[in-house]
Amino acid sequence: MQVAAALLLTLINGIPQDKGAPLTVEKPPYVQLDRYDPDGIGVSYMGREIAQVMGHFGAPWLDRPERYAEEAPQILIGALDLKPGMIAVDLGAGSGYLSFPMAKKVAPNGKVLATDIQPEMLAIIEGKKKRMNAKNVETVLGTTTDTGLKNDSADLILLVDVYHEFDKPYEMMTSMWKSLKVGGRLVLVEYRKEDRRVPIKEVHKMSEAQVRKEVEIFPFKWVTTKKNLPRQHIIVFEKVPPKKS
Ligand SMILES: C[S@@+](CC[C@H](N)C(=O)[O-])C[C@H]1O[C@@H](n2cnc3c(N)ncnc32)[C@H](O)[C@@H]1O
Repeated sequence: MQVAAALLLTLINGIPQDKGAPLTVEKPPYVQLDRYDPDGIGVSYMGREIAQVMGHFGAPWLDRPERYAEEAPQILIGALDLKPGMIAVDLGAGSGYLSFPMAKKVAPNGKVLATDIQPEMLAIIEGKKKRMNAKNVETVLGTTTDTGLKNDSADLILLVDVYHEFDKPYEMMTSMWKSLKVGGRLVLVEYRKEDRRVPIKEVHKMSEAQVRKEVEIFPFKWVTTKKNLPRQHIIVFEKVPPKKS
């Protein structure tokens, strides 16, 4: 009888996810620096200085025509393995340079949630959405500590040149972990710090080792690192349930 009831519940609610124990990750300290980079905020987290946020006046740079040759966004979009029906998040979407190509991949019944902390960036995305009649892109205003998304709602969160700008990486990692479904992917795309030829300011680059160090204190499993973009690496993680103690 109990088995039949459980079966009925599964049919109604879908397969239950093993959410494991509540999320408890010890918080690494934010350390105020005496001497710091002019492009940094003077605070270090896990041995890395946090970069200043790029203001909305930088939106034309994000949409520069040379970006196609410099960053090969079509290779990045292909590497995300997006499927129709997915809920994909372009977190820190800026001007939405990647939100619209992502939206084509998840159409017709999936959507892209384009989030940012700057309402001016979201207004640019809304303008493009109207012009392109892209119905499956929705804008979401986040904060420096919160994605603004529902818990367990996203299949994939993409961060392109965003993570190193988080004022509060610990809080954002916690919030992103909560926003993803178990098995959902977190994808960080960062300029390669290991490559001195990448012409980007030092605090706006991250090494693969540093990314893994910061992400893997949370219940995320590293899946792969792809190095086939001209300047960035694509570092993919999967959300796993927290370990039961
Ligand atoms: C360098 S831009 C990259 C924009 C976009 N991902 C692209 O590649 O074109 C970084 C963006 O991240 C946003 N950002 C910074 N911290 C954020 C946070 N905690 N949550 C959401 N967005 C954030 C900034 O406002 C900015 O628009």
